[in-house]
Parts: sequence; C-alpha cells; structure tokens
Amino acid sequence: MKNILITGGAGFIGSHVVRLFLETYKDTRIINLDALTYAGNLENLRDIEDHPNYTFVHQDITDLNSLRKIFKEYEISHVVHLAAESHVDRSIEEPLAFVETNVIGTVNLLQATKEYWGDNFEDKLFYHVSTDEVYGSLNETGFFYEDTAYDPRSPYSASKASSDHFVRAYYHTYGLPIVISNCSNNYGPNHFPEKLIPLMINNILHKKPLPVYGEGLNVRDWLFVKDHARAISTIFSKGKLGETYNIGGHNEWTNIDLVKLLCRLVDQKMGNPGGQSEELITFVKDRAGHDLRYAIDASKLKDELGWVPSLQFEEGLSQTIDWFLSNKEWLEHVTSGEYQKYYAKMYNKS
Ligand code: NAD
Ligand code: TYD
Repeated sequence: MKNILITGGAGFIGSHVVRLFLETYKDTRIINLDALTYAGNLENLRDIEDHPNYTFVHQDITDLNSLRKIFKEYEISHVVHLAAESHVDRSIEEPLAFVETNVIGTVNLLQATKEYWGDNFEDKLFYHVSTDEVYGSLNETGFFYEDTAYDPRSPYSASKASSDHFVRAYYHTYGLPIVISNCSNNYGPNHFPEKLIPLMINNILHKKPLPVYGEGLNVRDWLFVKDHARAISTIFSKGKLGETYNIGGHNEWTNIDLVKLLCRLVDQKMGNPGGQSEELITFVKDRAGHDLRYAIDASKLKDELGWVPSLQFEEGLSQTIDWFLSNKEWLEHVTSGEYQKYYAKMYNKS
C-alpha cells in the first residue's frame, strides 16, 4: 500500500491534488500535512475530510524532528510537495518567511525522506511542485523550456529556484528518486483572493476599485487548477525519475485584457449593464521588479506523457466565477480579519 504525503494540501492547488489523488489512487492512504498558514484552509477539503483513506496532520515543514516522526508513523512511501509561501507581493514585504518555508522547509522534507528511506528507493518517489517563475522574465517572444537557465528575480521565485536546486542535489548526490514540475499561473475554485483573478472577482462583487499594476501590460499564461492537478497526477504515475516537466496552457493574457474579460463575464452573470465593472479599473503603482512575461512550452509533457489542458479559458473563468458566486461564505471567511489588514497594507499605500 502506498502512503502518500501531500504537503500544503489545505491550500489552493494542494486541495485539488488531494481530492484528485483520493479519487484516482484507490488503494493508497493520503496524508495531508499542512501548517494552516493564512493560505491554508480546511474548508477547501470539507467534502473529503471523512474519507477513510484520508488523514490530516497539522504540522510545519520547518520542524525537521516532527517530520522525522511523521515519516515513521505513517510509513511514507511517496511525497508530493506543494507547501510553500506562494505570493510574490508578500515575498517583497517579507522575504525571510519565503526562505524559511520554501528553502529550509524543502530541505527538511528532503532530509526526513532520505533518512526514512535509507537506500531503499524501490517504489518510492519525491515529487516537487514548482513554478515557471524560476526561469525569470521573457520579453515579447519566446517560451520557457525545461532546459531554460534559471533566472529568478523576486524573493518568491528565488526561494522556489533554490528549492528546485536542492531537490536535484538530493537526486544527484544521494540518488533520491525525484521528479519536478514547473507550472504557469493557476486559477480556479478555492483560489485565495490575494492573487490577481480571485482578487478582481471579489472586488468586482463588492464594487471596489480594481487595482491593476503599472499599465497592465504584463503577460501571464493561465491554467485551470484542475488541469494542473491532472498534470501532477500524470507525472506522479508516469514521469521519469530525475526529470523536469513544464506545465502550461498556451494561454497568454495581458493583465488589463484579462481584468476587462472578468468584468464582462461578471456583469453578464449578475445582469449588470455592460461596462459597469470596467469603470472600477484603477491603475496603481507597479510591483517592484515586476516580471514582464511568462510563457510555458509544455510539449514535453504532451509528447511524452500525453497530458493536454482540458478547458478553454473563457469556460474555465466562467466556472471559476460561478464557484465564487455560489461560495460567498467561503469568500467572506477568507476575506475577514487578517485579510483586511493585508489589503490595507498592500493597496492603501499613498
Ligand atoms: P497556497 O499559498 O494557496 O497554499 C500553500 C499551502 O502551504 C497552504 O495550505 C499553507 O498553509 C501551506 N504551508 C505554507 N507554509 C507551510 C509550512 N511552513 N509548513 C507546512 N505547510 C505550509 O499555494 P498554491 O497556490 O496552492 O501553490 C502550491 C504550490 O504550487 C506551491 O509550491 C507553489 O510554489 C506552486 N505553484 C503555484 C502556482 C500558482 O499559480 N498558484 C503556479 C505554479 C506552482
Ligand atoms: P499574481 O496573481 O500575484 O501572480 P504572479 O505574480 O505570481 O504571476 O499576479 C498576476 C499578475 O497580475 C502579475 O503581473 C501582477 C498583476 N497584479 C495586478 O495587476 N494587481 C493585483 O492586485 C495583483 C495581485 C496582481
């Protein structure tokens, strides 16, 4: 029996991965380890929390001794590592938190894994989930490939790049069976409203200003979160050890066009007069060191493992908006309290 440790399973992407793994791998136990930071939310997993093959462990990956005990207690055979500090703007305010979790936390996890597995790597896997931001920033043309040189430019992407390097170091030095994937920007249900798409949906619903950084001309390559979870499952079951796979949707949007599309879709769904929400768009001070463009070439994953995205962008956005409209309680819970302080600090700068 496989005992799969998923870290960060109470977060946005992790919760979709936990759900998909429970559906897909019937004879396994899923152990979801999460520190429940501001981004971790057990409400994301209410529908599966009583599943007989599911266990939640409240733990921080910065605590190596506790990780050692957890590996023994649950006889961990596979790791899917998503736990991270994930927001670029927060990394600019508090870079050390990103070093703690993304770098030290990842090395702790690698070390606990190596100690527990010893040199018996049969039917074992350490899967590290990473981001395309490690490759840096593109100009108007070109794509990120698996062999694009790393060039991280924010504290977030630098910490993720560092964690990727450590994962490869454990593969080359100790033979730890690893695989890494680097994915483009995700969106979908349960997305925490500090990131562009859910923040804009929340603000449109509350008729609040829509803060677009700079001139809104930065480009991101968007992928529906359930397609990312499917890609992770595909790589988990069929990926080659030691390999890296890029994941992306070939779906590039400037921020301003994307925000306008969101305005149009929400106005349609709410029966608002056309153009009403667009009036809320407000250009604000640009993010420091703002990467211009990300764009993933995911042909290796398609050609070698057969994964392709399932959803067109407008359909994915429409499903996402519907989810937010029918989960207002979720949205209220995550935007009360601390979120208000965060929002005031980040967006009410003079
Ligand atoms: P998220 O911020 O929504 O969730 C992160 C989760 O990790 C939360 O549940 C949080 O409680 C947990 N966590 C944070 N610090 C922890 C610690 N020290 N110990 C244990 N748990 C801790 O993040 P997400 O958007 O779901 O991203 C998940 C992973 O995917 C990250 O590794 C991120 O770098 C990567 N990724 C994200 C995107 C994206 O667009 N969101 C794209 C590519 C890759
Ligand atoms: P974000 O969702 O934070 O993802 P990332 O920075 O990891 O790509 O931001 C996506 C893009 O949207 C990025 O170019 C920054 C921009 N942005 C805004 O214009 N306004 C906002 O309030 C936020 C959060 C992001």
